[in-house]
Amino acid sequence: MVSKSLLFLTLLALAAGHGVVVAFDPNPLQDFCVADTTSKVRVNGQPCKDPTTVTSDDFFFPGADAPTGAGATASRRYNFTAKSVTIPGLNTLGASHARVDVSPGGAFPPHYHPRASETALVLAGEVYFGFVTSYPENRVVARVLRRGDVFAVPQGLVHFLYNNGSEPAAIYASLSSQNPGLVLVADVLLAAPLPGELVAKTLLTDLGTAEKIRENFRRH
Ligand SMILES: *[C@@H]1O[C@H](CO)[C@@H](O)[C@H](O)[C@H]1NC(C)=O
Ligand SMILES: *[C@@H]1O[C@H](CO)[C@@H](O)[C@H](O)[C@H]1NC(C)=O
Repeated sequence: MVSKSLLFLTLLALAAGHGVVVAFDPNPLQDFCVADTTSKVRVNGQPCKDPTTVTSDDFFFPGADAPTGAGATASRRYNFTAKSVTIPGLNTLGASHARVDVSPGGAFPPHYHPRASETALVLAGEVYFGFVTSYPENRVVARVLRRGDVFAVPQGLVHFLYNNGSEPAAIYASLSSQNPGLVLVADVLLAAPLPGELVAKTLLTDLGTAEKIRENFRRH
């Protein structure tokens, strides 16, 4: 017994030390659970539609090869648009997908998904894409990707996409959670209402310099 709990504590300590996120989407208990978006009931995901009314439409999303149009989230700060590939049939299956378009010179800046690994397929253009390993190594694992290339990002690691090419770029991203979460590293530091002195100390600079950078995040 003693050695078992010791082993458990050691594993827990190891997990905590390496920033492992202990959270997973549930395993499904049925073939599928097509989201019933009209229901007011909340479960871990959305409630299931009557399975006898399910059709192929529930598993289908057309036109993911076309640039994001209506319904996309646009970032004027970074010049990208992102659109969720909404497939009701993926509900409770621990997956989500998105198409991201980035203008030349634009970027999807360093960010991470607390609950998902990501695999990205380049649909168009040329991008500098990759991730950074955790502290204290901070190694950049990245490369230039072109149409047809696929790159994987481990769960919880900070990654980025920079369109330093001259053509519009697009990727199709598959994530291993229905609700991956998104943390933008610069926003956490510079857009959150943290004490200015703390931000300055974190950036190893003076308050004036820190406030000047924070001002950009308030204006845009
Ligand atoms: C975003 O695009 C606009 C218009 O093309 C350009 O003026 C601006 O510099 C771009 N910003 C970034 C961050 O690339
Ligand atoms: C984009 O940046 C990467 C990394 O610095 C570099 O290897 C690549 O040549 C750049 N691409 C262009 C088109 O400048």
